Amino acid sequence: MNNATKILLSGCNGKMGRAISRLASMDDSVEIVGGLDINTAEEFGYPVFSEPGKVNVDCDVIVDFSNHAALEGVLELARSKKIPAVIATTGLLATQIELMHESAKYVAIFHSANMSIGVNLLIDLVQRAARALGEDFDIEIVEKHHNQKLDAPSGTALAIADALKEVRDCETQYVYERQSVRRKRTTSEIGIHSIRGGNIIGDHDVLFCGQNEVITVSHSAASRDVFATGALRAAKFIAKKPAGLYSMNDLINE
Ligand SMILES: NC(=O)c1ccc[n+]([C@@H]2O[C@H](COP(=O)([O-])OP(=O)(O)OC[C@H]3O[C@@H](n4cnc5c(N)ncnc54)[C@H](O)[C@@H]3O)[C@@H](O)[C@H]2O)c1
Repeated sequence: MNNATKILLSGCNGKMGRAISRLASMDDSVEIVGGLDINTAEEFGYPVFSEPGKVNVDCDVIVDFSNHAALEGVLELARSKKIPAVIATTGLLATQIELMHESAKYVAIFHSANMSIGVNLLIDLVQRAARALGEDFDIEIVEKHHNQKLDAPSGTALAIADALKEVRDCETQYVYERQSVRRKRTTSEIGIHSIRGGNIIGDHDVLFCGQNEVITVSHSAASRDVFATGALRAAKFIAKKPAGLYSMNDLINE
């Protein structure tokens, strides 16, 4: 257990926190040494702190799956104590993303709105499709999540849209709903639609709609374990990295 990567888990009592705690308990290469959560129940044998200032355990990396309201505290802890951090929480504000970039000048920060390897492959595939199909195909993204999810659209849907925008030659606008504006769709749009219901873990479909043909690239997560496994890999990956902003691509390409 001596060489295990020691993790402080922010959001440890949430759905993702619990999945990570369960997987980590079966993996000798990692150890959760403490949790950070406004719910301080201690169910997994490690201490849980209500705020970053109260953390009194040594760790190699912070893993954050909590709420955007916790981000400033997590980044401050990472930066002041030089502890690399994996930021997986979604629904971040533009100013918080800026703060994350600023913090990455001082400490290693790994950020991914989706920790699954499959979604990161989907992003690569849809970029290739967008390059090949061009403006003749309208792009719509449909994401589906459980009825407890707070943010919409999902961070993953936005990450997919950003990746598509990067490779499109034309001007691109995101359209989140069509009910309030009565006009035809323009080629510059990427439609992004959110469905909330039941216990859907996370589905993303990217539709390329042309004349008489539609290509759909889909990813469906059947268990939170896909994100938890990816987050533990990310934690081990950045634990000893120098300052900088890292992504799933860096991990996959190493
Ligand atoms: N990047 C990814 O791959 C990925 C995958 C799944 C979920 N997520 C994101 O991770 C986050 C958590 O997801 P979840 O399904 O576990 O949610 P959840 O609501 O089940 O759990 C959130 C946990 O964070 C705690 N919390 C809330 N506000 C806090 C604060 N200010 N300080 C400290 N703790 C706080 C809650 O008490 C709870 O235990 C969400 O933003 C979600 O979208 C990311």
